[in-house]
Amino acid sequence: MSAPERRAQYLQAIGVDLWLPRAAVAGAAAPLEAPGGAPHVPERAPAVAEVAAAPAPAPGAEAADWEQLRAQVLSCTRCALHESRTQAVFGVGNPRAEWMVIGEAPGAEEDRRGEPFVGRAGQLLDAMLRAVGLSRATNVFIANILKCRPPGNRDPRPEEVAACLPYLHRQIDSVRPRMLLAVGRIAAQNLLATDAPLGRLRGRVHHFGERNVPLLVTYHPAYLLRSPADKRKAWEDLQFARSVFAQTLNAEPNDGHRP
Ligand code: URA
Repeated sequence: MSAPERRAQYLQAIGVDLWLPRAAVAGAAAPLEAPGGAPHVPERAPAVAEVAAAPAPAPGAEAADWEQLRAQVLSCTRCALHESRTQAVFGVGNPRAEWMVIGEAPGAEEDRRGEPFVGRAGQLLDAMLRAVGLSRATNVFIANILKCRPPGNRDPRPEEVAACLPYLHRQIDSVRPRMLLAVGRIAAQNLLATDAPLGRLRGRVHHFGERNVPLLVTYHPAYLLRSPADKRKAWEDLQFARSVFAQTLNAEPNDGHRP
């Protein structure tokens, strides 16, 4: 199966096949147009799989730090959520990935299994990521703002975010991604320290932290399950993210962190 055919199949799986430009299915590059009037990037962005490394264990001290961080998260009692959790959910994927996807908090299934995005929303997220060559098995790391499940899946409380966010910051410092994708309002607002609505945060390149990592915002897959008409916009966001990622590769081919 050719790459465009595979992509068409993935898009069909997430329900955005109907509007896919015919030329893209036939083999031409799909237009990379940013939503909300952000700059058009004419160059074809490589599929992420073409440029991202396969999982590699972090060497020596880095690996020890990472495992220490994981142990801290798993035994954390910084907020009351530890009392109701089954287990904390550290994150999943390649600890040296070039992409990190950040969600909100574990749900019931994630709390039970100890892995982020494993319920229905997670299946949709995986399909969306696959459509741009990303997979938790190889080239992306997925984590949440909160590591423990809020009871009843309520929104995170400010004191819970304040207690937990430093863990995510340390994860980002350690992974050193080239691209951050915030899925949903809660992830976007907390990473960017803003209360702007999601609609205003999509379609622009934000930057995160001292390394100015490009950060893009899209819809949460649980929202897309409820509002499938917006899957098309989510696909535009992913295409935009892919084109921004390609630009980072041109600007700075290797930071020495990866082989
Ligand atoms: N929603 C999230 O934001 N994160 C998960 O891990 C699962 C569902």
